[in-house]
Amino acid sequence: MNTTPKKGSLFESFRRRIKLEGAISVADYMADVLIAPTHGYYISNEPFGVSGDFITSPEISQMFGELIGFWCADTWNNMGGPTEIHLVEMGPGRGTLMSDLMRAAAMVPGLHSAVKIHLIEVSPKLRKKQKEALSEYDVSWYDDLTDLPQGPCIFIANEFFDALPIRQFERSPKGWCERLITLDEDETDLVFTLSSPSKAIETIIPLELVDSHEGAVVELSSIAANVSAQISHHINNYGGAALFVDYGWATPTAKPSLQAIRSHKKHPVLQEPGTADISAFVDFPTLKKSAQANGVTVYGTITQGDFLRSLGIEQRAEMLRRNADQKQVIDIAAAEHRLTDPSQMGNLFKVMALTKSDQPTPAAFPEQKEAS
Ligand SMILES: C[S@@+](CC[C@H](N)C(=O)[O-])C[C@H]1O[C@@H](n2cnc3c(N)ncnc32)[C@H](O)[C@@H]1O
Repeated sequence: MNTTPKKGSLFESFRRRIKLEGAISVADYMADVLIAPTHGYYISNEPFGVSGDFITSPEISQMFGELIGFWCADTWNNMGGPTEIHLVEMGPGRGTLMSDLMRAAAMVPGLHSAVKIHLIEVSPKLRKKQKEALSEYDVSWYDDLTDLPQGPCIFIANEFFDALPIRQFERSPKGWCERLITLDEDETDLVFTLSSPSKAIETIIPLELVDSHEGAVVELSSIAANVSAQISHHINNYGGAALFVDYGWATPTAKPSLQAIRSHKKHPVLQEPGTADISAFVDFPTLKKSAQANGVTVYGTITQGDFLRSLGIEQRAEMLRRNADQKQVIDIAAAEHRLTDPSQMGNLFKVMALTKSDQPTPAAFPEQKEAS
């Protein structure tokens, strides 16, 4: 038997843990793969851009961050233009969105001087990039939401929730089980397995999904639900709003979505852990329930295409084209298409907003409020 497979330090650490403690949940696996000290994907890699593993909306075009800047300015006005507003970005990557947002916010009198920037980021490598991108501003960093200052906040999260750990549950012929991760017989590979079925598992499956067909998989993230609750609690206490943009489900859905991406291509989820990004569709219905339970008003989801068009991406692209050379004109059109077209990111990505319940409807969202 091969006892020392060369699959990287994270594999070795999973192997030791599973031998000692037994199979682990998908959530435990995902948490370690992404943010384990030293070897976690976000801790040891530079994942963004053509030379990295994936590209996010702010990295596609400055228009994305600028339009979110206009959304923030409108929200700040809706709040009565407080002289101090905490702008909190969750998982800010390279700091590109915040940098574009702040450039757009500079056009609104009084907003720049009111803003204090707070970034929630676990990766020291990415904190360094963010510091460079935002060198002209006073910025504070946090590991999580617990130490944020009191006071009105606008929270922004683009492709943050999809990186939060999920558990997977599968309807087997004998009932609902949890999908777990264990070692194969040779102890040289990680493989999926199923827990025994139990009534306790059945009780945590959303009611709409509990009668799903055999083989159906439901993904749930208590961490994402808690983050939505913490943000909502803060908004309810101190005022403010939040904007969540991510790829995900608009309604409760029983389909597996966990995926790994390396060099812009799909990669087997359990292979060479820590060398590929792993993420899952965001369960927006759960974020919404969690927010409503904490007293805020929830808007959306709407599609990213509708959100950006409503904020004026077509006009912004036209303005940028006026001073562009031939290549830039083509790039601007390609970026607009990629961000908004239904066949690209336009429909897959959804946008949800939360506001304190006494505030007007935020920009880009349909007028009617949903009951909270
Ligand atoms: C997919 S990237 C998105 C980056 C950026 N928002 C963008 O759109 O380009 C995920 C970001 O969340 C951070 N992150 C992942 N898990 C985190 C966690 N549990 N707590 C705080 N930050 C986390 C990563 O380091 C990274 O900055």
